[in-house]
Amino acid sequence: MGVCGMEEIKIGRGFAHGKIILMGEHAVVYGQPAIAFPFPATKMEVTVTETSGEPTIDCAFYSGVLAKMPELLESLRKVAELVLTDLNQQSAKLKIKIESSIPAERGMGSSAAVAVALTRALYNYFGRKLSKKKLLTIVAAAETIAHGNPSGLDALMTSEETPLYFIKGKEFCPLTLNLDAVLVVGDTGKTGQTKAAVASVAEKIRGSKAEYYQKNLDNIGDLVKRSRGFLEKNDAASLGKAMSEGQKLLKELDVSSYELDHLIETADSAGALGAKLTGGGRGGCMIALASDRKKAEEICLELTLAGARATWIYEMRGIS
Ligand code: MEV
Repeated sequence: MGVCGMEEIKIGRGFAHGKIILMGEHAVVYGQPAIAFPFPATKMEVTVTETSGEPTIDCAFYSGVLAKMPELLESLRKVAELVLTDLNQQSAKLKIKIESSIPAERGMGSSAAVAVALTRALYNYFGRKLSKKKLLTIVAAAETIAHGNPSGLDALMTSEETPLYFIKGKEFCPLTLNLDAVLVVGDTGKTGQTKAAVASVAEKIRGSKAEYYQKNLDNIGDLVKRSRGFLEKNDAASLGKAMSEGQKLLKELDVSSYELDHLIETADSAGALGAKLTGGGRGGCMIALASDRKKAEEICLELTLAGARATWIYEMRGIS
């Protein structure tokens, strides 16, 4: 019972945030390193309360009974099933509400973030402790449905608070960002196709030009290693060049799109030090490195005029 004789409402909450991959998407699935950081400008919140009827879910794409959720949200149903089984609460009557400012399917990790926030909210609701390892295992199962063959980077980056140098299956390494430059993020407004893009890269490295594409992934890995050095040496100009080189390699892998190329060219013409897509590609978001905040604001304006749905500015100084 709560105050004034009112019934206290039992509530569980879980949070996560968006992520940005600076360098290394796609190659990271094949054991190359990647550099990524949390993107707290976009957030995910899940609230769990009790209901009298069947379990329900309420999000931007669907509002109704959990068991009848469309296939698109299959990965979420998987999270609920795994967590409730683990907590031995399969018959719990729950109302799940998802609120997000992470644009969906834009390479910002929305599918991993919702899995992270839902897992956290359910454990919180039942007052149970959740280890990092268990969280990542549950999110990996959901991401396998959403992405096919996830590296684990999105799960980690949407739940962790620090920039990371990440290699699949290995101990990750926190990074400090102290760069005299500012990152611009631009949303094409077109949904990306991470699952299809990941599957098409997999086909390429098994196909007749396997060696060529394997070399492409190795080259992305080399760029990531060099970029780590540029970050450490506060060398924004070289990092920008590496980003543009990375974009060429991603284009060869056929994971860019007309809209991404258009915004990247716009950022380049507006004086960016370099620009590339971020995340799974084939739509979604791009990033551009600007020498300072004023230049970043100019780039944002040009991106908006060129059709960007939204832009963000991310200071790369004093972040660890
Ligand atoms: C998607 O945000 C990043 C990819 O490298 C896939 C993955 O790492 O799981 C394309």
